[in-house]
Amino acid sequence: MSPEFFSGHLRSTLFFSTLLFFVIHSSSQSDQRQSLLEFKSTLVNSKVLNSWNEENNVCNFTGIVCNSDEEVKEVNLSQQQLAGTLAFDSLCSLKSLERISLGSNLLSGTVSTRLSDCRNLQYLDLGMNFFSGEVPDLSSLTQIKFLSLNLSGFSGQFPWKSLENLTNLTFLSLGDNPFDESPFPLEILKLQNLNSLYLTNCTIGGTIPEGIENLTLLESLQLSDNNLVGEIPVGVTKLKNLQMLELYNNGLSGILPVGLSSLVNLAQFDVSTNNLHGDLSELKNLTRMESLQLFENSFSGTIPQEFGEFKFLKQFSIYDNKFIGELPAKIGSWAEFEYIDVSQNYLSGGIPPEMCKMGKMTKLLMLENNFTGGLPENYAGCSSLIRLRVSNNSLSGRVPDGIWSLPNLSMIDLEMNQFEGPLPANIGEARSLAQIFLANNRFSGELPMEISNVSSLVEIELSSNQFSGEIPATIGGLKKLSNIRLQDNMFSGAIPESLGSCVSLSEINLASNSLSGQIPDNLGSLASLNLLNLSGNKLTGVIPSSLSSLKLTLIDLSNNMLIGRVPQPLLLVAYNGSFAGNPGLCADGSKDLRECSPVSRKSSHVRVAMYCFIAGALLLLLSLSYFLFVKLSKIDHKSPITRGCSWDVKQFHVLKFSEDEVLRSITQENIIGKGGSGNVYKVDLKCGEQLAVKHMWKSEPDSDSWKGSRSSAAILPKEKTLWPEYEAEVAALSSLRHMNVVKLYCSISSEDSNLLVYEYMPNGSLWDRLHTNKKINMDWGVRYEIAMGAARGLEYLHHGCERPMLHRDVKSSNILLDEELKPKLADFGLAKIVQTGKRMDSTHMIAGTHGYIAPEYGYTSNVTEKSDIYSFGVVLMELVTGKKPVDPVFGENKDIVYWVHEEMRAKDDMFSLVDSTITKDAKEDAVKMLNIAVHCTMKLPALRPSMRMVVKMLEEIEPDSLTDIVIEKGVESVIPDCKKPSMN
Ligand SMILES: *[C@@H]1O[C@H](CO)[C@@H](O)[C@H](O)[C@H]1NC(C)=O
Ligand SMILES: *[C@@H]1O[C@H](CO)[C@@H](O)[C@H](O)[C@H]1NC(C)=O
Repeated sequence: MSPEFFSGHLRSTLFFSTLLFFVIHSSSQSDQRQSLLEFKSTLVNSKVLNSWNEENNVCNFTGIVCNSDEEVKEVNLSQQQLAGTLAFDSLCSLKSLERISLGSNLLSGTVSTRLSDCRNLQYLDLGMNFFSGEVPDLSSLTQIKFLSLNLSGFSGQFPWKSLENLTNLTFLSLGDNPFDESPFPLEILKLQNLNSLYLTNCTIGGTIPEGIENLTLLESLQLSDNNLVGEIPVGVTKLKNLQMLELYNNGLSGILPVGLSSLVNLAQFDVSTNNLHGDLSELKNLTRMESLQLFENSFSGTIPQEFGEFKFLKQFSIYDNKFIGELPAKIGSWAEFEYIDVSQNYLSGGIPPEMCKMGKMTKLLMLENNFTGGLPENYAGCSSLIRLRVSNNSLSGRVPDGIWSLPNLSMIDLEMNQFEGPLPANIGEARSLAQIFLANNRFSGELPMEISNVSSLVEIELSSNQFSGEIPATIGGLKKLSNIRLQDNMFSGAIPESLGSCVSLSEINLASNSLSGQIPDNLGSLASLNLLNLSGNKLTGVIPSSLSSLKLTLIDLSNNMLIGRVPQPLLLVAYNGSFAGNPGLCADGSKDLRECSPVSRKSSHVRVAMYCFIAGALLLLLSLSYFLFVKLSKIDHKSPITRGCSWDVKQFHVLKFSEDEVLRSITQENIIGKGGSGNVYKVDLKCGEQLAVKHMWKSEPDSDSWKGSRSSAAILPKEKTLWPEYEAEVAALSSLRHMNVVKLYCSISSEDSNLLVYEYMPNGSLWDRLHTNKKINMDWGVRYEIAMGAARGLEYLHHGCERPMLHRDVKSSNILLDEELKPKLADFGLAKIVQTGKRMDSTHMIAGTHGYIAPEYGYTSNVTEKSDIYSFGVVLMELVTGKKPVDPVFGENKDIVYWVHEEMRAKDDMFSLVDSTITKDAKEDAVKMLNIAVHCTMKLPALRPSMRMVVKMLEEIEPDSLTDIVIEKGVESVIPDCKKPSMN
């Protein structure tokens, strides 16, 4: 063979094999591209996938990793704000796929059983999404090592059986999904390679099996927030590699298992909120411990002294148990210790002195024990400290000076001890101090003037001490001060004039001191003042008439040396003894006080008569209603009008109008709306402003209907039990301050009816603007802002205060629009008020409105925030589609929720669902909002996102055109001190 032939042959072989390679290669390229583009087509927010197109090599697609043969091996698209559904039929046709990472997105829909075609999968992360339906069978994923499905909306029965042969699994995370209740899945016990198991909050009941001991490689075992009962099995003590063991919030009982002490690697141990008892001797050798959480159990015995030598301990929380004895002196002195909470035990001895040695401690919480000794000097240098609470112990001595000026300290609570000494001047350097509680100690000396520099102060509670001298004249500098309680001390001198400049004050208690001089006139300008107690002092002069303009729930000026006439309006809020022990005081028509001179008596009669005339006129007007005719006929004929005299006014904001002005405007021609609970009137004030007044009837409360009512009623004075639930609720509503919540100015009530006075919203309701003849063209930006604003308002109701407040009647007609079309929620909580007030026709008063009512109303009385979220989802659908919640076009007995869900599922042209007036370029965003609405209206309440989440999701789809504009985002949404101080 000639060399030429040879080389020619070689060349042609090469040529053909290259051609062959090219053909195979390009076909694989196009198949893979085809699959990936199909996968992309069901995703909604796919800007990130712009590189996924017909031109690029698939191995160059964003998030794609190929193997050396240019076959797709990995899809890495977690945290990309992807929405839409997953086409596993396309994705799993990629035969070399080993890794799918799609966690922390906005993905929804069900996960197809075609997932089982991904047979080479080693890594699957679908966690933190919004899927629905059940998890499909996983048994074919025999190569899988990492499986994360936590917090992704799955429900129904989890296919536990399908895990039994997936023995390569090292990481398994299924928690935070509302699966159907199941006993502890025994299949898990076969997964002997597991080193991390997260089954927190997925409805597992029964006991933890002894067989858990098989999982010897486990480093992290988390079974918290389930319904587990019985004892912690001894098997757990065989898991020598455990670093984290979390079992909190179950129903576990018994003692800590014998042998736990052999888990020498344990660093995070949390069994809080169970029913465990016994002592902690099993923990004393666990020297790697970093975080020990044992609170809310019934543990007893002493704290092992060995804890004092734990070199890594950073968090120690054992509150609400039955521990006795002393804390180890050196606890928390080694690592960067963060907090201790040993409150509510029977501990004694001194406060360990070195917990802030590394300068990281933020919380020292030791309330309700029997600790003795002083506050260690060391803490005077603990600049990281935020909360210092040692109330209700037997601590004594002087507080180290440096404590008072710690730069980050927000709360200092030393109440109910025997501390002594002065409050030093360096308190003026405190930069973050909001609450100072020193009541019931032996503090003495003068209140330093420098306290007026602590502009962050909200509460000062110094009662029952031995403070003396004058209240600093500069106190008016404290503009955030809400409560000042100095009662039961020895303060003297005059009440400083400047107290009237503390504009946020709601409570002033200076009782039982030796204050003299006159009551400052300007206290009458404290618009939010609610309680004023100056009793038991040596105050002189007359009661300033300015106090009449306050709307107080309690005033006590008794046992002073006041003289003259008690202003008439104050008599309304006074209780019997409010003015007692002031021989010089008189009043007109009060049985407790001496009558004033006859001249003024006459004039007051005139005034009373006028009230009665106005009220009577109102009653007559209202008597148009048949309902009232019936009632009137039952009333004693001699005094039909006196009933109406007792209008009780509760004011929550600074008012520029009088109740008379409001009452006069409650006439037929001023009606602007009629609702189930009453009519709404528009009131034009003389000053040019406008109000909306909602009038509601009440009937005799059925005594049983509020007997067992919640304790919230207790926030009002006991003597006013006209309709306690109503009043408490109104008081709660009135405390709300948010720019997306309509302001309730005041409530005016008589025995028959209530008037709620709101700010007037000139652009009517969203319903009007979407669906009626007042309809206007709203572009996408406006609709988005309305959705966002309403969402923030509702988020505030749900999360803004400690007790979540339900709206109960979220609908577009309760979303009102101001002159700039900014939305505000109205009528919140009223459904409940109306219900508990038990109108005669209470059967008609279902909470909520047809078309907006979440399905669970049908089968449970346990209505939660999630029901509001359903209704809000309906509003979002209205905004996007422009359609009404109930409309014949959806088909018989079908509503907008059914229609949108069906259309989204059919995933045809989703743009066709969007209101035709919305411009093309906004339609993609509109579909995203619709997607959020679908989440909000899931049938199972647990699958609906929280309002906080909804706000976050809406923020993510903010139109580009709005991002440049500075939008006031919840400026008012943070109410200082809305939350009451929590244990932690
Ligand atoms: C991927 O893209 C880069 C530049 O964007 C290009 O240089 C490279 O050749 C591409 N690779 C393939 C395999 O197409
Ligand atoms: C696990 O493997 C066993 C033995 O091969 C088999 O009988 C069983 O059906 C498998 N389980 C599942 C859920 O596939």
